[in-house]
Amino acid sequence: MDDSNPRPPQRSVLFVCLGNICRSPLAEGVFRHLVEERGRDGDFLVDSAGTGAWHVGEPPDRRSEEVAARHGVELNGRARKVLPEDLERFELVIAMDRDNLEDLEALAVRHGSRARLHLLREFDPDGTGDEVPDPYYGGATGFETVYEMVRRSCNGLLEAILDSSEGS
Ligand code: 4NP
Repeated sequence: MDDSNPRPPQRSVLFVCLGNICRSPLAEGVFRHLVEERGRDGDFLVDSAGTGAWHVGEPPDRRSEEVAARHGVELNGRARKVLPEDLERFELVIAMDRDNLEDLEALAVRHGSRARLHLLREFDPDGTGDEVPDPYYGGATGFETVYEMVRRSCNGLLEAILDSSEGS
């Protein structure tokens, strides 16, 4: 073991949408893929959850799986509802839209949490501060558009995290 270069602590990111079947599993899969491409998988804990419970236990929506597969990204996991403990367990909690963010802020207030909450597109160089729109009731084009914004934003998020680790 090289003591002059200690392993950095594990970084943790939770992606959150409404149902945890369309957007947040896609963001989780894309982010994990980007981390793996850089050979940093062991350094990150990555997960996703929903603010609603309607789809708990279900796999990702087929349209999210299809768009991910077209871009060489595999999705896994089953939908679950976000828990108060998630706000402590994950260093960063990343919401897809402002409704998700407001629900997370309310959860944080109820549980006295000082979680670090962000909108994913704060990290999108092409749309800082915008939302990842809910594609559930749209067609496949919606999922491709969502994929592109999720990919850009996850890249930006990973860069921001790696820059902050290197600076510390
Ligand atoms: P997601 O999409 O929040 O991106 O997983 C949705 C999935 C299901 C529903 C809404 C949004 N739904 O109303 O059942």
